[in-house]
Amino acid sequence: MKRTLPLLAFLCTVTCGQDTCGYYNVTDRIGVLEPSPSLVNMRPVKDWRDPTIVSVDMTFRGVLDMDEKLQIMTTLMDFEMIWENQFLSWNPEDFCGIDRILIPEGTVWIPDIHISEMTEDDSLDVLYMQLYYNGTIRRTRTLKVVTTCPLDLYKFPFDTQKCNLTFGMSMNTVSDVLLIPSSSAKEVTLLSLEEFAKSEWILKEVNIMHLNISKYGEQWNKVIYQVLIRRAPVLYVINLIIPACLLVLVDVASMFIPMEGGERLGFKITVVLGFSVLLLILNDFLPNTDNPPILGVFCMVCLLIMIVSIMDSIFISYMLYLSAVKPEVPKWLKLWVLKRLAFVLCISIHKEFSDTKMVALNNKAMDESPALHESETETNKQLSKDNSKDSPEIKLLKRLLLELLMVRRHLIISKKEEAAKSEWNLVAFVLDRFILILYLLIVTIIIVVVVLVWAI
Ligand SMILES: *[C@@H]1O[C@H](CO)[C@@H](O)[C@H](O)[C@H]1NC(C)=O
Ligand SMILES: *[C@@H]1O[C@H](CO)[C@@H](O)[C@H](O)[C@H]1NC(C)=O
Ligand SMILES: *[C@@H]1O[C@H](CO)[C@@H](O)[C@H](O)[C@H]1NC(C)=O
Ligand SMILES: *[C@@H]1O[C@H](CO)[C@@H](O)[C@H](O)[C@H]1NC(C)=O
Repeated sequence: MKRTLPLLAFLCTVTCGQDTCGYYNVTDRIGVLEPSPSLVNMRPVKDWRDPTIVSVDMTFRGVLDMDEKLQIMTTLMDFEMIWENQFLSWNPEDFCGIDRILIPEGTVWIPDIHISEMTEDDSLDVLYMQLYYNGTIRRTRTLKVVTTCPLDLYKFPFDTQKCNLTFGMSMNTVSDVLLIPSSSAKEVTLLSLEEFAKSEWILKEVNIMHLNISKYGEQWNKVIYQVLIRRAPVLYVINLIIPACLLVLVDVASMFIPMEGGERLGFKITVVLGFSVLLLILNDFLPNTDNPPILGVFCMVCLLIMIVSIMDSIFISYMLYLSAVKPEVPKWLKLWVLKRLAFVLCISIHKEFSDTKMVALNNKAMDESPALHESETETNKQLSKDNSKDSPEIKLLKRLLLELLMVRRHLIISKKEEAAKSEWNLVAFVLDRFILILYLLIVTIIIVVVVLVWAI
C-alpha cells in the first residue's frame, strides 16, 4: 500500500496532464464568478480576529503637473497591492497546473485603500486582478491623481519639494487590516528613477514611513510615501532671472546718461515698465503664502531702487530748471551736499572753489556792484557836465572808459550767474553720484543674499 500511493499519484499526474483544462474549471470549482455578496463585501478571513495583511508597493512614473498657486500636484504612479483571500484557493495539480487566473474587478473584496491628500482621481479603471492558487490576490493600478502638497517656494526656482502620499484605509482599523510596504525605500527609489519621465521636476528620492495614527479613538495604519522632487530651473533662469538682471544692469547704465535734456527719465520709466512685466510673470507662479520666495523679494527691492533712481532723475531735472530761474543755491543744501556728502563720497570738487570761497567771491561781487554802479553814474554825470570844456581826445577817452566800465559790469554779472549755475550743476552731480553708489550697493547686497540663499 505504501508503494502504490506515490505510483497512483504519478499515474494521476500523467493522465491529468493529458486532460483538458480551462480556466472555467477553476472558477467553477471556487465559485468566484457566481454572484456572491459575502465574497464581495466581507473581509475574506476564516477567523475575524486574523488581520488581513496587505502589502503595498509603488513606482513613481512622473510629475505631470504642479500648480504652485493652488499647491496641488498631479502624479502618475503604479500602485500594487497584494493580499490573501482565505476562501479562494485550489490545488494546481487538480487543474493541469493552472496556478493563477484573472478575475474581474468587483467579484471579490478589495481593501479600500485611498490617498489622504487626494483631491481628484483620474486613474484608469482596472478590469482584472490576478488570483493565485493559494488565495493571494494581486491588483496593480496606474494612478493619476491630484494631491495637495504644501510647497515651500522660498528658494524658487531652485527649490526642492517634499510631497507626502499617505496610503491608508478609511474604514478598517489596525486590528482589521495591516498595510506593509513590500519594498524598501531604496528599491522604490531605484525603480522609480528608471521609470520617471523627465519634466520640469526631477525625482531625487522616495522615503517610506510606516506608522499608526490614532484618530476617532482608534488606531489607523498608514504608509506614507514621501517624494523628494527638485525643480529643473533652466527655464526660469532664462525667462526670469537673466532678463531681470539685464534690466537692472541697463538701469544702472542709464545713470550715466547726461542729466540735461530729460532723456534719462524717459529711459528709466521704460525700463521700469519692462521690469513690471517680469513681475507679472513671476506673480503667476507664486502662491499666497507667508513665506515669499527670495526671488520676489529681489524683484521688489530692484523695483524699489529703480523708483528711487527715477525720483532722483526728476529731482535733478528740477534742480537744473532751478539753476536757470533761481541763481542762488540755498546754504543748507550747499553745506549738506557740496561739503558733507561730497566728502563722504570722496568727490573732489576741483573744478570749483570750495563753498566758502564761493560765498566770499559772490559777496565781493555783490559788494562791488553798487559801488561800480555809483562810480559809473558819477562818471556819466561828469561826462555830461564837463562836456563843453574838454578837448575831443579827452571826450573820446572818457567815452571809452564808460564803455569799458559797462563791459566789466556785464562780465561780473554773467560770471556770477555762471558760478551759481555751475553750483546747481555740482549739487545735482553729487546727488546723482550718491544715488548711483547707493543703487550699486543695494543691488550688490541683494544679489549676494539671493545667491547665498539659493546656494545653501
Ligand atoms: C474541465 O471542464 C471540461 C468541460 O466541462 C471537462 O471536460 C474537463 O474534464 C474538466 N477538467 C477537469 C480537470 O476537471
Ligand atoms: C502564494 O503564491 C504566490 C505565487 O507563487 C507567492 O508569491 C505567495 O507568496 C504565496 N502566498 C502565500 C500566502 O503563500
Ligand atoms: C509628511 O509626513 C510626515 C510624517 O507624518 C510628516 O512629518 C510631514 O510633516 C509630512 N509632510 C507634509 C508636507 O505633509
Ligand atoms: C501598528 O499597530 C499594530 C497593532 O497594534 C502593530 O502590529 C504594528 O506593528 C503597528 N505598526 C507600526 C508602524 O507601529
